[in-house]
Amino acid sequence: MIVARTLGELRSWRDAVDSEARVGFVPTMGALHKGHTSLIERSRATCDATAVSIYVNPTQFDNADDLASYPDTLQDDLARLEALSVDCVFVPAYQDLYPDDFAYRIEERQFSSTLCGAHRPGHFTGVLTVVMKLLNLVQPDAAFFGEKDFQQLTLIRNMVDAFFMNVEIVGCPTIRESDGLAMSSRNLNLAPSDRRQAPIFHEILEKASSDDDARRQLGEAGFLVDYVETIEGRRLGAVTVGPTGQSVRLIDNTELEM
Ligand code: PAF
Repeated sequence: MIVARTLGELRSWRDAVDSEARVGFVPTMGALHKGHTSLIERSRATCDATAVSIYVNPTQFDNADDLASYPDTLQDDLARLEALSVDCVFVPAYQDLYPDDFAYRIEERQFSSTLCGAHRPGHFTGVLTVVMKLLNLVQPDAAFFGEKDFQQLTLIRNMVDAFFMNVEIVGCPTIRESDGLAMSSRNLNLAPSDRRQAPIFHEILEKASSDDDARRQLGEAGFLVDYVETIEGRRLGAVTVGPTGQSVRLIDNTELEM
């Protein structure tokens, strides 16, 4: 496995890949879990070579404390990727990815200011900008994203269409703990009592009779509700759990049975 820490090292790897090979790419912010593993396995099953990036992208954080507390498990992540037979891991530095210091940005002006975007101003501009940069650098044939971040997946798909980008965006099912909690790097920050409470979020999203009912039940269960909204048969939600200063934001979504 090549660990590319500079643009030059990434380009050397990419140039050496057979021009006929189908290249898969899984962008991540590290703190890898089984959700990431499922994306990598999907790439390995359908592509000839797989690249993964690990980069905690500062431009998508609207809150400095959130960025500072984002889990960093780089050595474990690299061992996990090696065991998964990933071909290349790209671990860039800010100055390499942002030589323009974020002067140039990809901004979506409709869907990105709703749902998570309404509560995290600028978040999706940071996500779309870094994903565009990573796709341009890695030049994959396919890129794999989890459906847990459904709004992100939709915005990336639409960006690829809007800019005529030559890459297939593959959405992959959310992977859950045995109690139903969607796997997320942020789960590492849950205090034990919040971890016990967290799975109720998904249960309520799935079972509530309406979005209003879900908001009410979540509030009663002690969550602070950012939003619950159903769009095209899919109920999406975001909540925070835990006391101020140590709270963790959870997002999830579920396809409703019609
Ligand atoms: O979903 C994530 O981990 C991030 O938003 C992504 C797509 C890697 C961009 O930083």
